[in-house]
Amino acid sequence: MHSMSIEDPIFKASYMETYFETAGEAKFNCLRCHAPIAFLNNDYDLKKEITKEGVNCDFCHSVKKVNLDNQTYPFELEIGEIKRGPLSNVESPAHKTESSALFKSSELCAGCHEYTNHNGVKVLGTYSEWKTSPYAEEGTHCQNCHMPLIPGKIVKSEIKSSNRKQINLHAISASRSTEQLRKALKVEIREINKEEGVVEVVVGVINVGSGHMVPTGIPSRKLILLVELKTPNEYFSQQRIYQKIMLDETGKEVKKEYEFFLKAAQVSFDNRLRPRETRVERFAFAMPKNKKITISARIEYLYKASVLRPTEIRVKMAEDIKSISK
Ligand code: HEC
Ligand code: HEC
Ligand code: HEC
Ligand code: HEC
Repeated sequence: MHSMSIEDPIFKASYMETYFETAGEAKFNCLRCHAPIAFLNNDYDLKKEITKEGVNCDFCHSVKKVNLDNQTYPFELEIGEIKRGPLSNVESPAHKTESSALFKSSELCAGCHEYTNHNGVKVLGTYSEWKTSPYAEEGTHCQNCHMPLIPGKIVKSEIKSSNRKQINLHAISASRSTEQLRKALKVEIREINKEEGVVEVVVGVINVGSGHMVPTGIPSRKLILLVELKTPNEYFSQQRIYQKIMLDETGKEVKKEYEFFLKAAQVSFDNRLRPRETRVERFAFAMPKNKKITISARIEYLYKASVLRPTEIRVKMAEDIKSISK
């Protein structure tokens, strides 16, 4: 996703929409995180290949400090011969190296995964959700879950031999990986109570594996808890939705990605699941006629980017209505 941070078709479509709406002004906002190099070479129109690489190797590995109070550009970089990283006592034939604790810390990620807009609304809160969670206290950083150690060599052995047999996975997967998504939640039917013509189902949803709220980040993501009651000839269902809803200054719900950043004026609703939280939900169904009942509960991740909204064109072409009088 980082290598795609500017080429990503969803971002591209959304950026074009923003660019149009704000006569180009949005570039100073969006590119801060999606093409951070633009702030260094003043290439805000994305003319150079290096800028279009988005969040690239040299960007991250040149960061010296992250200052979260600076919402215009929180990164302090030192670009040049020295590449920074988590390892000490390493040597490269191509550049100098410097060990930096920042690379083991969530703060490196916070420069882009946390954002409060000009109305004081927290649009992206992944870092602060983590910071106030038990994971921060236990010292489990973003990297521990998103960049785990895997077998591998840092550099080709022909270039330089290295004794390390493990590298940090740089694929950094999340919502585009079903494997990663399935680590996050557990759902269990805890009770089924039958009384006075009602079947009550008690369901627990537990955030067992995510270091921040689920869902986190861009508020176009939702969770749907679906509880179904079936008999051989009947079907009933109920659902709960977990999401963050934001309103603009006129009180209208903002739905487009760029509006979250530029127009959100308040958070009107937020029932997302906090790290390690257990949420207990109760559902009441009318007693079905058939007594062979099956109940299921499942949770689904719904990502609906506004720019991908399917367009439906419907035109009434002909109609015939007849009234008859007795
Ligand atoms: C310079 C800004 C920047 C930094 C620093 C950064 N990210 Fe990101 N990250 C982004 C952007 C932008 C995207 C979305 C890319 C897109 O639109 O396709 C992203 C995407 C992601 C995703 C995928 C989200 C999804 O929905 O699948 C994960 C996970 C992630 N980043 C984790 C991290 C971690 C962990 C760190 C720290 C080691 C980090 N990021 C540092 C800007 C950044
Ligand atoms: C304890 C493990 C853990 C930690 C710590 C953690 N994450 Fe995640 N992250 C996950 C899991 C599991 C998912 C997939 C479920 C989800 O969407 O939350 C995820 C999803 C994401 C997503 C996709 C957005 C979404 O909710 O769909 C982003 C972006 C992200 N993480 C960034 C970060 C950043 C930045 C940090 C550090 C501040 C971090 N994560 C810390 C486990 C973790
Ligand atoms: C989003 C920021 C980010 C980007 C982009 C990024 N890295 Fe890293 N890199 C890190 C972090 C953070 C670590 C340390 C992780 C840890 O120690 O937990 C790391 C570690 C490393 C290491 C040390 C060995 C290791 O496995 O820990 C090397 C070498 C490295 N990166 C090279 C690269 C190269 C080459 C690219 C581009 C293909 C790249 N990185 C892109 C953040 C980034
Ligand atoms: C503070 C950093 C930051 C700023 C500023 C920012 N973004 Fe992002 N954006 C991210 C991160 C990080 C993600 C990755 C997913 C997440 O955290 O939910 C993302 C994801 C997205 C996505 C979803 C991409 C996908 O494929 O899922 C769109 C669309 C998007 N941003 C558009 C914009 C637009 C348009 C602007 C400017 C108005 C903007 N962003 C400004 C950090 C930022």
